[in-house]
Amino acid sequence: MANSMMDQDILRVLHSEEEIHARVQELGSQIYEEFKDRNPLFVGVLKGCFLFMADIIRACQIKSEIEFIAVSSYGNARESSGNVQITRDLGHDITGRDLIVVEDILDSGNTLYFLTQYFMTKGAASVTIVTLFDKPERREKPIKADYVGFQVPNEFIVGYGLDYRQQYRNLPYVGVLKPEIYE
Ligand code: IMP
Ligand code: MG
Repeated sequence: MANSMMDQDILRVLHSEEEIHARVQELGSQIYEEFKDRNPLFVGVLKGCFLFMADIIRACQIKSEIEFIAVSSYGNARESSGNVQITRDLGHDITGRDLIVVEDILDSGNTLYFLTQYFMTKGAASVTIVTLFDKPERREKPIKADYVGFQVPNEFIVGYGLDYRQQYRNLPYVGVLKPEIYE
């Protein structure tokens, strides 16, 4: 593939497209083993999850359904405000369902802490968290993912669904932006 203008904004690649693909296949098999006899509902957290969701459900061939929820806590900043709001709610009754929540990255934990409580209040039987990336150093809320693709350092990353000001989501790899991009 030709180098894009976006590549020039990347300081270094953290995980290549091939590496991400291989790890998603592994996660898909593990989730398959745990859920093969159940009928889980995958719930993707928009927008960051969209590529990961598309890949993980194909790496995990179980009879299941798919839903999305959209939240905002960031605005255009690089840090979560801690004030999580649902901007698009589930379109499905989740009473008694085993949820597999699919998130791009677990950072402060504000989003998934809020969502886990929200799903339990709505009657979910169980909530399993799958996140492609985890920044454990940044945690502010007591929340742990059940499945983690990669632990990443305390740096802001973009690509494979992750954005900076809504851009870079379509990079096939994940990388760190050059500092001048934030200026
Ligand atoms: P938390 O609520 O702080 O755990 O943040 C979760 C959300 O923040 C993720 O779903 C991402 O949308 C966003 N986020 C956190 N860290 C990054 C990053 O390094 N790059 C892009 N988005 C991020
Ligand atoms: Mg997100």
